Amino acid sequence: MADSASAWPEIPEVEFLTKYSNISKEEALARIEQVKDALRRDGQHLYKCIEHGTFGNSKINRHPFYRQLLELSRSPDFRFLELGCCFGVDTRKLIHDGVDPAKLSVSDLSDVYWNLGRDILFAGDEPSVERVFGDFTTAESSSDLPHIVSAHGWVEKFDAVSAFAILHCLSKEQTDQFLVNCFQSLKWGGNLIGWCVGTLNSAGSTTNVMTPTKGLPGREERPRFLHTADSLLLYLHSIGFSQVRVTVSLRHIPGADNASYFGELKPSFLVFSATKLKKPAA
Ligand SMILES: C[S@@+](CC[C@H](N)C(=O)[O-])C[C@H]1O[C@@H](n2cnc3c(N)ncnc32)[C@H](O)[C@@H]1O
Repeated sequence: MADSASAWPEIPEVEFLTKYSNISKEEALARIEQVKDALRRDGQHLYKCIEHGTFGNSKINRHPFYRQLLELSRSPDFRFLELGCCFGVDTRKLIHDGVDPAKLSVSDLSDVYWNLGRDILFAGDEPSVERVFGDFTTAESSSDLPHIVSAHGWVEKFDAVSAFAILHCLSKEQTDQFLVNCFQSLKWGGNLIGWCVGTLNSAGSTTNVMTPTKGLPGREERPRFLHTADSLLLYLHSIGFSQVRVTVSLRHIPGADNASYFGELKPSFLVFSATKLKKPAA
């Protein structure tokens, strides 16, 4: 992707929040701080992007697929799933840009962030989209609980699925299953889009690991795995995706020089898209 580090806004980011809620920059910054305070008070995890206050801005419109996504959304059958929806910023961006909320679904591990988005960040605004909260990294046969994809009628349901800033929070096994679940939930011809922190240098498929995220209270997370552009491309192909693109962006990653965090790894920003090509006729 042709971008430069300066193409990215400075943090904290408030552009979309000020526009959507019609508030001043000062008010937007104050709401961002209130959200962070509420999370700390509650003992919830503050992901790095939350700590740095990037959640006052939408991400999805900065993905190269966005224009095509808006075109696709005009079809009456269009369905979109935002994974790791957090405070619900990207979904509100789609609605702001004219997408019918009835065509949208959001999902996250828990509803903690979504609720703070409704109560504080967007001051009472809650779009009427389908909402499902649960772990998107489990395999169909791994527990007695109903599988998140099949339990909600999501098999081959979506024209597009987004995964922004999630893969790098997961272990290798979780990342693999998360992407398999994405594939399963896409219609034939559908597209997966997103980005994640990756690494420029590989220490091996099982050793590109960092300390785990803190996770939800009471939930222990495993060491996270960082893909290289090549390993993500290969894995997406291996589970059936075609037209896979993984590009390294020049965006600065806050904390990239923190050796205690990244160890020997050289963090990079990976932007990806992949298509579940139409099923060949039998
Ligand atoms: C770093 S935040 C990114 C949020 C948002 N997509 C963005 O770009 O700002 C990671 C998100 O992934 C969610 N998440 C983490 N583990 C998950 C899991 N196992 N299943 C579903 N969502 C998960 C977190 O709750 C959080 O909302």
